[in-house]
Amino acid sequence: MQLSSVSRRKFLQSAGILSLSSISLDSTAHPFIASEEIDVSHHRVRLKNLPDSFEGFKIVHLTDIHHSKFVSFNEVFRMVELANRQSPDVVLLTGDYITWSKKFIAPVAEALRNLKSRFGSYAILGNHDMRVDAEGITQALETAQIKVLRNSAERIDFKGDSLWIAGVDEYSYGQSDIPKAMREVPLSQPRILLAHNPEIVSQATCHQVDFVLAGHTHGGQIKIPFMRSLNVVTQPSQDFLEGFVRNGNTQMYISRGLGKVVIPVRILCPPEIPVFYLQS
Ligand SMILES: [Fe+2]
Repeated sequence: MQLSSVSRRKFLQSAGILSLSSISLDSTAHPFIASEEIDVSHHRVRLKNLPDSFEGFKIVHLTDIHHSKFVSFNEVFRMVELANRQSPDVVLLTGDYITWSKKFIAPVAEALRNLKSRFGSYAILGNHDMRVDAEGITQALETAQIKVLRNSAERIDFKGDSLWIAGVDEYSYGQSDIPKAMREVPLSQPRILLAHNPEIVSQATCHQVDFVLAGHTHGGQIKIPFMRSLNVVTQPSQDFLEGFVRNGNTQMYISRGLGKVVIPVRILCPPEIPVFYLQS
């Protein structure tokens, strides 16, 4: 669903945060090097045991929105509009909705409430969410009709078939529990896992996960040639930055995500909304 400018303004006013739209800091960045336009990337994902009814099932993946003084409410709203424009079957969100402050929790949840898909939205928490207020963000997202998976799984039923979506808490906080998240997911079904931090991939392989959707890296965010990217500087243990990674029988996609941290700009590293089409 596309939202008209009128409904958008109404929504901004009803949320009581219209003034936040003036906070955006990104628009002054040099257009040649700054990567601000969202790249909608499309990918086929083959899964063994995919039930017939889910052939072509379309997943829209949002991650690392980071609503903050670096990422305005208007920008978040545009992300939601662009996600809706893909006509998703399901929207999966892999954490970092805010950066520093609790005051951004309510507005980001209000914006995400406008996500539209056939089978709803499912989310996990990222490291910034854990740091700021894990319980508060969980509650705000659940109030916005987004199911938060905290070492748990949900089943989507369609035409007599089922597809499970599992999600874990943040790996860097030592709170990821894949066995618990996957407890109800039969081995005979595709095993899809939402995990903020891609470092979890080895564990995912041990627990026979077929497909991991991850974020966290921002794809590096600042990628100046011949220099280490911002993300590698801040997290030197990071093995992978973006795109598909295969580890044993596990495939993982790391999205560059949408927001910005540390520095209010992305350079040569555009924000991304991946769209996945499931195939048997
Ligand atoms: Fe992030």
